Amino acid sequence: MSEIDASDADRTVTDPSGDAAAGSAAPQTHGLTVWAEIDLAALESNVRTLRALAPSSELMAVVKADAYGHGLLQVARAAVRGGATWVGVAQFGEAFALRDAGLTTRLLTWLSVPGADFAGAVERDIDLSASAPWVLDEIAAAASSLGRTARVHLKADTGLGRGGAYGADWTTLVQHARRLEEGGSVTVVGLWTHFAHADSPEHPTVLAQQERFFEAVAEAEQAGIRPEVRHLANSAATLVHPSAHADLVRPGIAMYGLTPVPQVEDDFGLRPVMTLRARLALVKALPAGQGISYGHAYVPDVDTVVGLVPAGYADGVPRNATNVGPLLVEGRRTTIAGRVCMDQFVVDLGPGSQARAGDVVTLFGGAPGEPTAQDWADATDTISYEIVTRLGARVPRLYVGGPGEDA
Ligand SMILES: Cc1ncc(COP(=O)(O)O)c(C=O)c1O
Repeated sequence: MSEIDASDADRTVTDPSGDAAAGSAAPQTHGLTVWAEIDLAALESNVRTLRALAPSSELMAVVKADAYGHGLLQVARAAVRGGATWVGVAQFGEAFALRDAGLTTRLLTWLSVPGADFAGAVERDIDLSASAPWVLDEIAAAASSLGRTARVHLKADTGLGRGGAYGADWTTLVQHARRLEEGGSVTVVGLWTHFAHADSPEHPTVLAQQERFFEAVAEAEQAGIRPEVRHLANSAATLVHPSAHADLVRPGIAMYGLTPVPQVEDDFGLRPVMTLRARLALVKALPAGQGISYGHAYVPDVDTVVGLVPAGYADGVPRNATNVGPLLVEGRRTTIAGRVCMDQFVVDLGPGSQARAGDVVTLFGGAPGEPTAQDWADATDTISYEIVTRLGARVPRLYVGGPGEDA
């Protein structure tokens, strides 16, 4: 029987608020149905690895969406320990949460709508992104009302076809920013863009976008803008496109130890940060022919022993992992048997199983023999990003490898 128990003495759990003295508390997985172990030492190591790959650039740790499901504050702090000098999030609320928890690292947030709390952002010393003149106007108004100068990154759409100013709109945005700079309400500190195909290393748009970006930078500089940082590299570009590193790289997924380029054999020395485990809630015998779970999507053809795993789609286990979600249980790899339900699914442990209620099942992690988040992505036709980010709010995150520990 393969039990990997997070209550081993060499693991610790910290307060998810990030405030507790990490490494001080004993881990508690006893009695938990499902939990995610978040290895902060692996995260720190990944940040160091990425910094070494882009030695002339600063690193912005992308921690949006609760740090891809890993925990916003804990991850931001670990990333800073690993050498990140910037932190990036998509939404104002995420940025406010980081500042209000005491994070003083340079912080950029990039998605806003009219009426967003720009004053709250400026007050908290948060860098803001603008893709259109109206954003600059709202930022400038907020900054003026506070008697402050807001720091802004102008975003160019160089071919992603999503955020950013495209084509002639870039010229308008730059000129608008210059006028506001002269008025003293904003200062442009960053110029940036985002790739469409960085995860396809040979795709021709990668170099084309880079060229367009550096043209956009040149135009802004000719107009009098003096950016502190020019940035365009996500994880894939950080790993495989050194010519895109510029002043700052913005990795997300690679920091979490998952590759954005699974087709490339190299693991780049990254260590998976999240391990998702559960305990069997019930073990019982079922006869051949007894269908399992809703719809009887799995029917054992021999008398067998099944285990009930108390994790379901409310916890982030994809419903389309029915019959295909990979597992490690009793030291062997198997798959989910039957339909994934809201709170639970079943595993066919086989006729000779010695498993008992309370035994640990690993859904994914990074240790030898464990399925990976990439295996789950492959099995359910998605990307590893979604597998970790979709983890439900009710799944406790148990932090290991934080400061104060030898890991
Ligand atoms: C603007 C921006 N930069 C960087 C990233 C990080 O991307 P990745 O997780 O692929 O490294 C993201 C994530 O989607 C993003 O939206």
